[in-house]
Amino acid sequence: YSYFCKHMNTTNIAIFISGKGSNALNLITYFKNSEQFKICLIFATKENPELERSCAINNIKFHFSLKNGIELEKDQIQLCLANSISWVVLAGYLKQISPSFIALFPNRIINIHPSLLPKFGGKGMYGINVHRAVLAAKESKSGITIHYVTEEFDKGEIIAQYNLDLDLEETLETLEKKIHELELRYFPIVLEETIYDSSTQKII
Ligand code: GRF
Repeated sequence: YSYFCKHMNTTNIAIFISGKGSNALNLITYFKNSEQFKICLIFATKENPELERSCAINNIKFHFSLKNGIELEKDQIQLCLANSISWVVLAGYLKQISPSFIALFPNRIINIHPSLLPKFGGKGMYGINVHRAVLAAKESKSGITIHYVTEEFDKGEIIAQYNLDLDLEETLETLEKKIHELELRYFPIVLEETIYDSSTQKII
């Protein structure tokens, strides 16, 4: 595997995606000029030519894989080690992270979920399914949750939540759009603060 992140005194981040990658694209833009935080690797389980181009321009390793289970994890570990990754961000990543991978990155894997966990989380609850369930339950609020990843889907310690009120005539489309706006606005900031805080604690 080619090396992309040669910098040693930076915090190197990998992003795992399975979908459109709009959150990943947003994070690449946000951290583009950061001296401290380097997005070094995008690991995609679905083809994404737009993101692949953006990675080429930004000197970020883009890896697409159709593998599953242990074979997929072996590639992920090799690429993370080759790029001196210290944080793994899941942005629309649909596969479960194994205990052995979590053990390599204790309290260093962060996920974003498009509901106010613990509500509307767990296996199968992703993307539009979440918003459909929120509307069906006639919730008055929804929002996003940024949390640490553990062996169970969407159960890790919550880092931050941002909520919004549902309109009376809220539709799947309007809710998805409003949630997406929250994600794009807050995920980069929360990530930067979380990673910065944990690294400064280390120094102290
Ligand atoms: C977002 O809704 C995010 O909350 C969830 O998956 C979706 C990712 O969308 N984890 P994208 O692939 O970043 O566009």
